[in-house]
Amino acid sequence: PVLVVDFGAQYAQLIARRVREAGVYSEIVPHTITAAELAERTPSAVILSGGPSSVYEPGSPSLDPGILQLGLPVLGICYGFQVMAQQLGGEVANTGLREYGATDVVLAGDGGVLLAGQPASQVAWMSHGDSVATAPDGFTVLASSASTPVAAFGSDAQRLYGVQWHPEVKHSEFGQRVLENFLHEAAGLPADWNSGNVIADQVARIRERVGDSRVICGLSGGVDSAVAAALVHRAVGDQLVCIFVDHGLLRQDERRQVEEDFVASTGVRLVTVDAVEQFLDALAGVTDPETKRKIIGREFIRCFENAAEALVLEAAADGAPIKFLVQGTLYPDVVESGGGSGTANIKSHHNVGGLPEDLQFELVEPLRALFKDEVRAIGRELGLPEPIVARQPFPGPGLGIRIIGEVTRERLDLLRLADAIVRAELTDAGLDADIWQCPVVLLADVRSVGVQGDGRTYGHPIVLRPVSSEDAMTADWSRLPYDVLARISNRITNEVPGVNRVVLDVTSKPPGTIEWE
Ligand code: XMP
Repeated sequence: PVLVVDFGAQYAQLIARRVREAGVYSEIVPHTITAAELAERTPSAVILSGGPSSVYEPGSPSLDPGILQLGLPVLGICYGFQVMAQQLGGEVANTGLREYGATDVVLAGDGGVLLAGQPASQVAWMSHGDSVATAPDGFTVLASSASTPVAAFGSDAQRLYGVQWHPEVKHSEFGQRVLENFLHEAAGLPADWNSGNVIADQVARIRERVGDSRVICGLSGGVDSAVAAALVHRAVGDQLVCIFVDHGLLRQDERRQVEEDFVASTGVRLVTVDAVEQFLDALAGVTDPETKRKIIGREFIRCFENAAEALVLEAAADGAPIKFLVQGTLYPDVVESGGGSGTANIKSHHNVGGLPEDLQFELVEPLRALFKDEVRAIGRELGLPEPIVARQPFPGPGLGIRIIGEVTRERLDLLRLADAIVRAELTDAGLDADIWQCPVVLLADVRSVGVQGDGRTYGHPIVLRPVSSEDAMTADWSRLPYDVLARISNRITNEVPGVNRVVLDVTSKPPGTIEWE
């Protein structure tokens, strides 16, 4: 793999994704990794990420100098570029000049291998205080900007390169080209990482690991569990049985999508647990968000374990025990980051399929190395229905945490209707790609006065919470076109009984979280 050394902030994951978009497999490692540990992972190249620090700050993240001596092709980006300059004997200076945002970068000569084929001047995204004042001996300056004499350097002999700007950011005009030049030209790596290869590789691994045993998998209606199940099914066919718990907190049409469309496109054997009554009973009278989350998580595990138990008995009677459990864990959940410390527990997140660790099964996690966009690409390649593959993030506790107040059947029906209208209108307006997700929230304990026809109404508000985000850690509220908002508002107040007002949430995250509970 190409190893991306993480110096903190959120750049490393983005770099790893862009490297894979260039058709080369990549993984993230912490900056504390030693040269020996790194070499053990037999990387084909190394990329040093940006980070929030200055190389001058005491305690700023460092890099084992041995890493640059391994003879591997290395690309340093921003902070990584400065670390490289410093270790190789160049000079990093705090000039007091800062560059943030779009900056003009001018090539020196033809830009060398790294910047080959790019225009003499280009817009690049910068974010730095320190600058490289002098390139190390044996290095050629490849570009400069108004306040940075050395904005890029390289040594073809040593296959070491660096850029001050962020090529992984879309605002850098030729950013992807910089990464491609490094990977394909400087490091000589072929573009052979694609969905087809990932599927073939995983199918072979799963077959070998599972052998003749049986496998179970919980489906949530979301992308990850659906793609994981489809992959395992491709590998071992009917040795896999899926369990789908309908807790009544799903959105319109989601159960049908799983039971009919998913099953039709994969041929997976599915057991549905109809637990709507059980969840409603357990949630009766509960309004506290954390209590709701705990109840939903607990009931989910109960349902799943009961269903699994029945399948275990059945399989044992057949003489083919169930040994494995499939989970749709993704790479961002497992990556060892070199970045920050632990975050505060804001909410007790519950993943459907998030099961206790003492289950008697071994885990099969075929998506463990993948980012979400790769999982979607694989789902499409496997022929899964588009509504499942393209589904935006939806929390495990579902509509249960989008009703502010007690969860009841009537309120769920009402919210489902409003949510379906919002989703349909956003899709019709072609906005799905622009928004990360749009929670639709029912303020069930709030009432306001309205007028409809000649009569007074006293109804509930619906909140729209459209957000744009890269990873849900931070988010901004989406600036939806007014005419789309108007249509949504008209339709909800006309078509959803008991709702007489639609309001828009214009809070970023932080300070607001994406979900209201
Ligand atoms: P917050 O509300 O914390 O949400 O800003 C961040 C992202 O996580 C989703 N979310 C959940 N996902 N189980 C999940 O699987 C949960 O309990 C849960 N709570 C929030 C939320 O939809 C957003 O994408």
